[in-house]
Amino acid sequence: MALISWSNMLSTGVAEQDTQHKKLIDLINQLNDAMQAGHSADVLGKVLTELVNYTVLHFSYEEKLMAQHKYEDTPAHKAEHAKFVATAGDLKKKFDAGNAVISVEIMNFLRDWLTNHIMKTDKKLGQALNKLGVK
Ligand SMILES: [Fe+2]
Ligand SMILES: [Fe+2]
Repeated sequence: MALISWSNMLSTGVAEQDTQHKKLIDLINQLNDAMQAGHSADVLGKVLTELVNYTVLHFSYEEKLMAQHKYEDTPAHKAEHAKFVATAGDLKKKFDAGNAVISVEIMNFLRDWLTNHIMKTDKKLGQALNKLGVK
């Protein structure tokens, strides 16, 4: 079963943002499936790399939108992104060095972080963009 399921509750009202969030959810679900299937560190590492890389791309997409539209909550939003990138980067470094495994706790952390961030921080951004006519 998928760890995270997309629903309209996660929609920010901005189509491209939703598309990218769906891809992030898909990658987290892939990582969870690979962990549960007991796949090798090699397979898990590839999905983890893809997840980290796509996360960085996605955050820069949102941060570009914030800058373009002079979004007032930019600093707090960017700080949340930066903290998560640091945590995920640290996890990847430890995993690559053989000092960490992908666990249920890590998967739950990824799920909770992403859903909370979308529900609160990204939705707030989406609403502000909607008001400016960005959909
Ligand atoms: Fe965000
Ligand atoms: Fe986002």
